[in-house]
Amino acid sequence: MGAAWAVAFARAGHAVALFDSSSEQIHKHALPHAHRTLDLLSRAGFLEEGTGRVLARIDVAGSIADAVAEADYVQESVREDVAIKRDVFSEIAAHARPDTVLASSTSAIRGSEFLGHISHPERALVAHPVNPPSLIPLVEICATNRTHADVVSRTKDFLTEIGMTPVVVRKEIDGFLLNRLQYTLVAEALHLVGEGYCSAEDIDLIITDGLAPRWASIGPFAVAHLNSSGGFLGFVDQLGPMMKRIGQDARTDYPWDMDLARTIHAALAERIPVSDIPEHQDRRDAQILAARKIRRPAKLQQR
Ligand SMILES: NC(=O)c1ccc[n+]([C@@H]2O[C@H](COP(=O)([O-])OP(=O)(O)OC[C@H]3O[C@@H](n4cnc5c(N)ncnc54)[C@H](O)[C@@H]3O)[C@@H](O)[C@H]2O)c1
Repeated sequence: MGAAWAVAFARAGHAVALFDSSSEQIHKHALPHAHRTLDLLSRAGFLEEGTGRVLARIDVAGSIADAVAEADYVQESVREDVAIKRDVFSEIAAHARPDTVLASSTSAIRGSEFLGHISHPERALVAHPVNPPSLIPLVEICATNRTHADVVSRTKDFLTEIGMTPVVVRKEIDGFLLNRLQYTLVAEALHLVGEGYCSAEDIDLIITDGLAPRWASIGPFAVAHLNSSGGFLGFVDQLGPMMKRIGQDARTDYPWDMDLARTIHAALAERIPVSDIPEHQDRRDAQILAARKIRRPAKLQQR
């Protein structure tokens, strides 16, 4: 996640200081990953300059203190563990300027659980990306009860300036917005597969060949708005009772177990052997960029 963020900042012209407690992680994984992503962005026409020039803006720092001392913006991306995040933020806050924005990539932990104790907690918040932020623009910004409103708007402006699409989560909630939507759908998918209504492959097809082509251009509320000559209210007037019934019937509490997880894994591994995952990740990333290219107005395609 840190490497993907580094690409997102550097390709927009910013100098980046990358730090990881494991230097092997930096040299064996993060930097090669950044290089591959930049090559992919370049081939897809998303880079205005050569890969080498963008890569040259990413420096490896020797410590958290070195990484953050001169920074205007810090993006923490250590593993999803509240104790580690608390410690890392104590150290970042001790060395960063008091007006530097301190953001966390956490997927689902409320910022209040690990940002309230630092010095100047008003400068800290969550900026939750979608993997990988080098290719997917959405970021969820979520303040804690200590974050200043000005820091939220500075973060929003900065992320917009580098070509991301920030959405502000107005109140702290477990899992923010995207993962609540994603895992609600996945929970019902587990129920449907677990109770024999369809296969795991069918679920993937329903998304890729059914819902996603629509959702890639307009969201589910806009889909409903366009599906009725009376707009969203017309849609709800006709299909509202069905929407409610199915929503209430969905088994988001379905008690799926490891046997079901193993069955789904086996079906997936037949199509995509685990050893082939890196190759399929590359294909997935190229497809994400191809889809973004079709959607974007020409003048925005360079980011
Ligand atoms: N992977 C995803 O799909 C995804 C999506 C959105 C958000 N996130 C969030 O981003 C964060 C990072 O996720 P990831 O998948 O990149 O995790 P990861 O485990 O792959 O990487 C975490 C990195 O942090 C380093 N690290 C651990 N402790 C450290 C410390 N004290 N100081 C400096 N570096 C330290 C590790 O060496 C490792 O390289 C998590 O909070 C995760 O929830 C992940």
